[in-house]
Amino acid sequence: MIRSLQEQLDWDHAQAQGLEALGFSDLPFVNRPFLAVQAALRVYTARSSLLLLGELGLESRLRQGCTLEELLEGLPGQARFPLGWMLPFLADEGQLEVAEGRYTLRGTPELTLEDVRAFAEREAPGNLVGFKLLDAIRQRIHPFFTEGRNGESLLFDLSVFPVWLEYFGDENLTYHQNNLVTLHALREGLPPGARVLELGGGSGSFTTLFARDAAARETLGEIAEYRFTDLAPAFLRRAQRELGVRAPGLPLSFGILDINRPLAAQGLGDARYDAIVAVNVLHVAKDLVPALRELRTLLAPGGRLVLGECLKPELLRPIYTEFFFQFMSGYTQVNLDPVLRPVHGFLTGDAWEANLRAAGFSAVAHKPDTRVIQRQFPSFYVGALAASG
Ligand SMILES: C[S@@+](CC[C@H](N)C(=O)[O-])C[C@H]1O[C@@H](n2cnc3c(N)ncnc32)[C@H](O)[C@@H]1O
Repeated sequence: MIRSLQEQLDWDHAQAQGLEALGFSDLPFVNRPFLAVQAALRVYTARSSLLLLGELGLESRLRQGCTLEELLEGLPGQARFPLGWMLPFLADEGQLEVAEGRYTLRGTPELTLEDVRAFAEREAPGNLVGFKLLDAIRQRIHPFFTEGRNGESLLFDLSVFPVWLEYFGDENLTYHQNNLVTLHALREGLPPGARVLELGGGSGSFTTLFARDAAARETLGEIAEYRFTDLAPAFLRRAQRELGVRAPGLPLSFGILDINRPLAAQGLGDARYDAIVAVNVLHVAKDLVPALRELRTLLAPGGRLVLGECLKPELLRPIYTEFFFQFMSGYTQVNLDPVLRPVHGFLTGDAWEANLRAAGFSAVAHKPDTRVIQRQFPSFYVGALAASG
């Protein structure tokens, strides 16, 4: 198996090197260690999914061959989201056979996890947080299927919370890229005296990167206000405690902000912003176009919405990064639209552009243009979009 992981890495690396010839020379994170961790996480996610299905007693149904509906028999309704994602993902990864909607497990799949971790550790020492998070989820998620327990309560308990913080940290090789592409998109259009509003600031990893970058470029003084917001009071309190030290010199203000509630009632007063930035947040908007429309009303003339997102090459094809979130109701239980948002969760660059335009945004820029990159290198999953209000 390690041989094929090695082959995958070699292939990805060759594709990534071709990006420079396509004109994408400012993607320093697309290096061999990053690609190795990503390839290993994909295999680890597939093996962890199959192990989980076995632990839940679903192997015999899969050995016989079953549809999603048959697999779901006797399970709580919420199981549809992770299982509806796992079956096509495992088929894509060659772990299940699929024919006419029936999924079958054959032979003895390779399910050891240690060699995959060892591969990642060898290629990119010290980057194990994604594996740690996958282990934690698999260990704790059983009651989601057996008792219908809520995924958020199982996965955001005190023992896993620090792992999430580490995962969304800027030191995590496979998360840093999200912050970096968003930073590039945000900083290039900021006017002097800019007021910036961050949504879903969470661990504060983007805020910290933004402040460090501005300090290094000696542009901190050009920021008039940086308002850090999140839905979760725990994140906000932590940010208030820590960001003064982690982001010195950034003129911070703080507030709770829920993108699913009318913004006028959320204490922003008459404030208007030159940029609204959100890294991996807007895909949880319950009603995406109305939420984007609301955000437009907060932009000053010439202001932009900059969103960093995990971007899929194809809307209906699963990618490994989605595993983590299929147990979260905030991620799965959103209102769909047959054209603009046919699936929950991560979208393609084209789908984001269509939603932004439907909400009245214009001049939508893809930074970098993942639609071009993914034609050559489909495992490139990250991008930012900047849209004028
Ligand atoms: C994937 S994390 C983003 C991580 C963050 N950008 C960072 O650097 O740590 C998603 C964040 O969105 C927040 N969030 C979830 N639902 C939200 C909502 N309805 N409104 C605002 N923020 C929300 C979460 O609390 C979490 O901090």
